[in-house]
Amino acid sequence: MARPIRRRTMLWSCLSLFGAACSSVWGASKVSNGPYLDLKNAVTLPLSSIAERWHSLVFEAWLTPVGDTATDKLLKGILLRTNRDDSSGLKAFCLMCPHEVCEVQYQKDSSMVRLESGTVPDHPLLVCPCHFSVFDPLQDGDVLNGPAHRGLYRFRLATSGTKIQITQVEEQVLTLFT
Ligand code: FES
Repeated sequence: MARPIRRRTMLWSCLSLFGAACSSVWGASKVSNGPYLDLKNAVTLPLSSIAERWHSLVFEAWLTPVGDTATDKLLKGILLRTNRDDSSGLKAFCLMCPHEVCEVQYQKDSSMVRLESGTVPDHPLLVCPCHFSVFDPLQDGDVLNGPAHRGLYRFRLATSGTKIQITQVEEQVLTLFT
């Protein structure tokens, strides 16, 4: 799904993943703290399948925009465990890139990623294969590099017994469908 490219500042830089690519770069921005919307149905996942640090699970969730019940939106997301122990390290992000809605990929080996800054975090990252925006799961999905104007849209979740329930998503995710 293509959308018009929005750019405030055009810098040119080279960023490569598994080879080389050259992309236009927007200044990195922090993720927002806007309102969240309830998912149509909570997504329930087993805690046991994400027990180790940097385990991941891909999931799908449906969102019904307020006042628009005829057009449910399908969101693809990823659940990550960013720490070893408690539930505080469980993070869930929408895999639809805020730039032009390509599907972001989970890259466990960050040595395969090249950033304009040259400083690559020593932990797994989320990378968009279309124009090489890179997102950091340890910074709430914030964008580290590339043309994306913001970080990944975030889900809210809760744990209960042996289950994880993903219940809400940032309302701004709806801008992907406009
Ligand atoms: S779609 Fe352009 S960086 Fe993701």
